[in-house]
Amino acid sequence: MSIEFEAKRKIFHLFTNDYSYYIHVNKYNYLIHLYSGAYLSDISKERVSERHMERYAFLNENKEETQDEDYYFSMIASQFEVAPFGKGDKRNAPFIIEGENNTPITNFLYDSHKIIKGPANKSDFILPHVRFENGDVETLIITLKDEYKDVYLELYYEISDKYGVLVRYSRIINKTSEKIKVEKLASFELDLPSSDYNILCLKGTWGNDTEVERIPLNHSLTKISDNHGGRGFYYNPSIALMKNDATIDNGEVYGFSMIYSSDFSYEFKVDEIDQTRIIGAFNDETFEYLLNPSESIYSFETIIAHSINGLNDISHKLHDLIRERILPSTQKIQKDYILINSWEGYLYDFDTEKIISLVDEAKKCDINLVVIDDGWFKGRNSDTSSLGDWEVNTDKIDLKKVIDHAKSINMKIGLWVEPEMISPNSDLFRNHPEFALIPDGYKYPTLFRHQLTLDMTKKEVVDHVFNALSNIFDNYSIDYVKWDFNRYLTESYSASLDVERKKETNYRFILGTYDLLNRFTSKYPNILLETCSAGGGRFDLGMLYYSPQIWASDETDIALRASIQYAKNIFYPLRSIGAHISDRKIGSITDKACLAFFGTFGYELDITKLSEEDKKQVLFFNDLYKQFHHVVLEGDYYAIFDPSKTNYVAWNVVSKNKKECLVYFMNYRKEQTKSRFIKVKGLRKDKYYFNSITNDIYKGDFYMNVGLNVSCPMDPYFSAVVVIKEVDDVRATLYRKTKQVDGGKRDKLM
Ligand code: DGJ
Repeated sequence: MSIEFEAKRKIFHLFTNDYSYYIHVNKYNYLIHLYSGAYLSDISKERVSERHMERYAFLNENKEETQDEDYYFSMIASQFEVAPFGKGDKRNAPFIIEGENNTPITNFLYDSHKIIKGPANKSDFILPHVRFENGDVETLIITLKDEYKDVYLELYYEISDKYGVLVRYSRIINKTSEKIKVEKLASFELDLPSSDYNILCLKGTWGNDTEVERIPLNHSLTKISDNHGGRGFYYNPSIALMKNDATIDNGEVYGFSMIYSSDFSYEFKVDEIDQTRIIGAFNDETFEYLLNPSESIYSFETIIAHSINGLNDISHKLHDLIRERILPSTQKIQKDYILINSWEGYLYDFDTEKIISLVDEAKKCDINLVVIDDGWFKGRNSDTSSLGDWEVNTDKIDLKKVIDHAKSINMKIGLWVEPEMISPNSDLFRNHPEFALIPDGYKYPTLFRHQLTLDMTKKEVVDHVFNALSNIFDNYSIDYVKWDFNRYLTESYSASLDVERKKETNYRFILGTYDLLNRFTSKYPNILLETCSAGGGRFDLGMLYYSPQIWASDETDIALRASIQYAKNIFYPLRSIGAHISDRKIGSITDKACLAFFGTFGYELDITKLSEEDKKQVLFFNDLYKQFHHVVLEGDYYAIFDPSKTNYVAWNVVSKNKKECLVYFMNYRKEQTKSRFIKVKGLRKDKYYFNSITNDIYKGDFYMNVGLNVSCPMDPYFSAVVVIKEVDDVRATLYRKTKQVDGGKRDKLM
């Protein structure tokens, strides 16, 4: 059981084995947030909700002023589950609903509730979501009614002891006889009683997609948001809120991850008595929604994970949930492919012969999937034209011949597409200019990479793209698709929407994209899909619901990419992070392979030009992939060194049964000789493990407390993958007696 309702005190308790969340329905039917934190078996609502503020700010003459059980209730300072808008509370509000009288005062009060074993019925929930199964969760649905309008709010709380997370979303239902405008729609509100936190978020730009940024809370409204309609490098929808003294292994941390691929916002408001209100919502800068009578709209879902054991514990909770309940079933075939992508090797400059040689060379190197990136379709020889014309450029490439040849030697072929786009210089635009997302009367919409977006709010556009893609994928046997999205939305006020619905464009656009992805993945369930957005510009759980992996960045130089992967690893399982070995200057093939190993693993260079020595390394790593990559796919991830605080990047991954472990280490800032130890995490302390760096056997507690000694001279960017494997006690004792020579000469580092 994960939800209890105590009728007498009107208190809900949602809990897992290490987390509690308490809600109280007060005398005036406000939903009061009592507690969120480490597991707590009981609560005193009076003591936790006591705030010595102007407590009667909300009361009108009809309500008694008595020193009753809700004596300490204050509109100014109480912690709410749903704060009102336009009433006594002047902090940020989660919902703003405007009726036809243009008065947006919004005040939702408790009406009823339901507790369900299992997840809520999601048959009408059109956004990607956690695929909870019965037995994973219990769900609390609290229905509230607006004080002024016949508008209802449902708050959903899915609490999962199995995964140690709380999933929040909401729904607004219009039961009035008028149209109402939803001006702000939150997925969750969380009020906390203190403000000694900093926000850890991921920001970036093209080529440096993800950097960890830490923002201390202050009394101004802090908004971590995106308004690009997708392709938002500038803040990822996953963030953490860390106590100022919390670290990767200690202290209180919340992880938040929204399952949405368009405009979102997290607002943090510290109030006058230093409490913090967090609201996760559609970004109201680019969102509004008109509801006709009896219509409703859901928010997206947000996963909330809590830990008092630091950031690594948040990663474990999120990674497990994402792997098991968000990623599509095509994740099963990820392990079957080692791919090579044509982009960095050839750009647009390839033909049938070049691709066939690539296929042949890849085969020799034990790579089994060749991906033909941008440039295979009609007229596309640069980024200035042809998006939308999804027909094979037969003058350039005989795709049938390539596929037949590949099949004959047991190789697979993948293709790149960018379905949501249209080039002004394309047959599609010449025939259907109305398919482009251009507002009425706009002559010069902003071009980005010489392209426009399609108007994905229109069903006929989605139908057209789906048919065009089907034409390719019905006729060519393709095993993998890279689905790109290289520009963001501008002037996004669809000409096809009514005047009063223009601000629904970005939301409706992503619904169109999800519809297309749904249709595509249902029709081609065996194609491995990798999404992408000019690198990792749309790296979120909405995309991961359809594609088990996302290309992480166009920055393939390991110097920067190591910190990009470090940042993404915090929130996203390593199996979802597209990572390739390229031909960039920094590092050897080995250094590059070590880093790519901790993502999907693949190649992105002209492999026909590799030296024989490098090819040996390719074969070595492809073999290592077959032996050990399952640990990266399934294991528990632990950050070891935070690259912003040390000169290294290091992490390790441990298989669920704790028998196998892989360590990544990189000399990130050119240190030479130094006393350095990599303290591995998550092993069994009393089991013996062999390690591939010194070929010794030690107990788990040695690796965890002393660590791997790498105090040797080291080249800049020197990288290593260390395999640590449990050995049974008898073998370990024998080995230690016969082979281990303490004080003796060690093997060189790999
Ligand atoms: C952006 C992607 O990130 C690249 O990998 C490549 O696919 C190009 N688009 C192709 O235009």
